[in-house]
Amino acid sequence: MIVAVFCCVLVDAASQPLTQITANIGPKPNNVGMFLYKPAKSLASPLPLTVAIHQCTGSAQGYLQSTQYANLADEYGFLAIYPNSPRSRSCFDVNTPQTLSHNSSSDSQGSASMVSYAISTYEVDSTKVFVPGMSSGAMMTNDMAGSYPNLFAAASGYSGVPFGCFAGSSSWNSQCSEGQLVKTAEQWGDGVRAAYPGYTDSRPRMMLWHGTADMALYYANYGEEIKEWTDVLGVSQTPTTTTTQNNPQSGYTKTTYGSEVVGYSATRLSHTVPVHETVDLVYSTGTPTTTLPVSTSPVTTTSSSAGSTGTGTSGWSGPISCVTGSTFQVINSYYSQCLP
Ligand SMILES: *[C@@H]1O[C@H](CO)[C@@H](O)[C@H](O)[C@H]1NC(C)=O
Repeated sequence: MIVAVFCCVLVDAASQPLTQITANIGPKPNNVGMFLYKPAKSLASPLPLTVAIHQCTGSAQGYLQSTQYANLADEYGFLAIYPNSPRSRSCFDVNTPQTLSHNSSSDSQGSASMVSYAISTYEVDSTKVFVPGMSSGAMMTNDMAGSYPNLFAAASGYSGVPFGCFAGSSSWNSQCSEGQLVKTAEQWGDGVRAAYPGYTDSRPRMMLWHGTADMALYYANYGEEIKEWTDVLGVSQTPTTTTTQNNPQSGYTKTTYGSEVVGYSATRLSHTVPVHETVDLVYSTGTPTTTLPVSTSPVTTTSSSAGSTGTGTSGWSGPISCVTGSTFQVINSYYSQCLP
């Protein structure tokens, strides 16, 4: 079973090509690829950096094309880095003890080196580094926030799982993916704190997105992520505000826990929630919403009124029935999903 997305209609082309950086950037275990997007216009000062992490079966180039971070980089003059998975199915090493600890040999460490390199080479403002990601990339978002809290101001994870949830010897963790790995907020928090013992400085604020009909990484993971990060960031698990709203789209419930943790629960959306780049950008930079247009990567969806059932795909032994209101669709030989 592989987590992929049903999306990725090409959006507006970014104005510049993605460049692979082959210089010695510091520790880069597993040879995770570093791809840089530098807009043509003059760069903002101070200079922000977005580190956008792709899903399984994805790639740096694919994620540039399927999201609007590069277009926004063109518009606002920030840099974007796209780490590229070195593995055949293009997932990241989200389950290893190394990726779940600071400065230990892993994809996370390689991605952290990219940030340090960008700060020293391109004069990125070290207080303005943001990490968004989707699915396996959202697991990485959680991992980067936990293992490298010193590097990031904010993170945004689309349809991921808590830091440490996938931990184990296998690259797929069914207990976690099916939402059965439940811990107390403090237990989750202890896992994050153990990733970088002795670290007491600031940590990134966390934005988390999840669809209620997610059958690749079940919705329960959303609540577990909220428990984890409210504990780590020292805010109450009781929401400060809860807004059911048509913003960014209808069917989203936004819940805030101070400004440190923000959740978007997307009714009946499956894997994954579409990326809301401008919401991310507002959250990461604190730019007033009124000055940014709301843009969203398009996703293709179908509508139906009853749930349906399909056959499992390669290597998947989990549930194959969709909740009422969504339809089973085979995306490829590795991945199927229920779409609203
Ligand atoms: C982690 O690695 C970075 C880059 O090599 C280094 O600057 C930093 O001091 C290390 N952190 C710790 C806690 O050793």
